[in-house]
Amino acid sequence: MATTADELREEVRRRYAESARAVTEGTDGCGCGSGSCCADGESDGTKFGEALYDAEQRGELPEAATLASLGCGNPTAVADLHDGETVLDLGSGGGIDVILSAKRVGPSGIAYGLDMTDEMLALAQQNAREAAVTNVHFLKGVIEQIPLPANSVDVVISNCVINLSTDKPAVLTEIARVLKPGGRIGISDVVAEDHLTSEQRAERGSYVGCIAGALSKNEYEAGLEAAGFEEVSVEFTHEVADGMHGAIVKAVKTTEPETKGLPVIVPAAKAGCC
Ligand SMILES: C[S@@+](CC[C@H](N)C(=O)[O-])C[C@H]1O[C@@H](n2cnc3c(N)ncnc32)[C@H](O)[C@@H]1O
Repeated sequence: MATTADELREEVRRRYAESARAVTEGTDGCGCGSGSCCADGESDGTKFGEALYDAEQRGELPEAATLASLGCGNPTAVADLHDGETVLDLGSGGGIDVILSAKRVGPSGIAYGLDMTDEMLALAQQNAREAAVTNVHFLKGVIEQIPLPANSVDVVISNCVINLSTDKPAVLTEIARVLKPGGRIGISDVVAEDHLTSEQRAERGSYVGCIAGALSKNEYEAGLEAAGFEEVSVEFTHEVADGMHGAIVKAVKTTEPETKGLPVIVPAAKAGCC
């Protein structure tokens, strides 16, 4: 079982490398690749993955991109993207939301995907080629240290990734840094009801399965406000485990962000694959 933050991150990386390989090789080694992750194996396939995209959106994508969909929502449906905008997808996986974003922002816009897992980046690049989108760039790196300049992005999206971070305050601060003043976020994530302790969240599923590391609604809202966001909203959309929900997280970067002390959240880790 992973004990340190570095070990936990490495376990996450291994888990998603395995998912990418399962799609690339046409196997289903981790119960994934069938649209039923990132949660543990008990998911019925309607709470995570490709089922959360409508038929029209799935029709715009190569099959491998939909098979590799491991999210818990559909951030492109809530981010209201416009022609010419620059979008950044944190933890872009097989590239599904980057490809959809690239089509929404058009040739004058840019869609960046950031991921730490080589196998996912290779799969995403392959999917983007198949989808014939050219205004995409996939970056290798971690969401706690985004490799883009300050004030360079209009919209940050993410799909079921922030719960996997071992340093969520750093992620929220980095999102605020790279967004232009007035820039916005449209994030899907797993979020816990406020009464659940870290231990109770860990009882409901593994860290790598996107459950144990989830923030509560209050923690998310407070973290975003501390990082310099306003118009913060966290709305539950569907329950993924008892008291744990797929949620849409929205906020706007204030014109003059003021970083206050961020809450330190150390979720109890529980190892395991889906
Ligand atoms: C649950 S999958 C979601 C992938 C994609 N967003 C989707 O909806 O299909 C999580 C992805 O985030 C990546 N990831 C997890 N933690 C990360 C971190 N700290 N920095 C960068 N990427 C990370 C993993 O490599 C994996 O590709």
